[in-house]
Amino acid sequence: MEVEYALMLVARWLHIISAALAIGVPIFMRFVLMPARQQLDEPQRAVLHEAIMARWRVFVYVMIVVFLATGFWTFLGVARWRSFEPDARFRYHLLIGIKILIALGMFFISSALAGRSAALAGMRRNAKLWVNVLVLLGLGIVVISGILRFMP
Ligand code: HEM
Repeated sequence: MEVEYALMLVARWLHIISAALAIGVPIFMRFVLMPARQQLDEPQRAVLHEAIMARWRVFVYVMIVVFLATGFWTFLGVARWRSFEPDARFRYHLLIGIKILIALGMFFISSALAGRSAALAGMRRNAKLWVNVLVLLGLGIVVISGILRFMP
């Protein structure tokens, strides 16, 4: 029981740290880095961009693994919903389903922006738009997660 409790805490900490990064870094990029780098000329911008993405991409991949591992462990292992009444259980599952779909969207956009796939170069050219979408999806997930946390 104590090991289970410790695991639950560690999973929660890792999940929250990843959430802070997954939302905080795109906000920093969109509202601080992107406007600031306008002061550089195009070749300098390209060098800076590649140097940043080469490092950030590692965080993105690690975060995706951490989200999936800690999220599904909390959902299926800790499974607070098992003690809920059927109505609350239904609402919990509905919200977590929506949250997982949004999370998958976030994983895709983050990987596309940080990655090097030629097929997704169009998204990187429209980075401003996609970072906006990423931030909005992230905020939506925080809203849903806050509700889940205090259910039923
Ligand atoms: C497939 C991916 C994910 C799964 C399966 C998942 C699952 C979960 C579960 C089961 C909880 C606990 C809810 C409760 O208290 O009953 C939770 C909490 C939370 N999740 Fe996720 N999650 C995922 C991705 C994300 C992402 C991408 C973010 C943010 C960008 C995020 C942010 C949070 C936050 C802020 C909490 C609240 C933590 C707390 O109050 O202790 N999750 N998640």
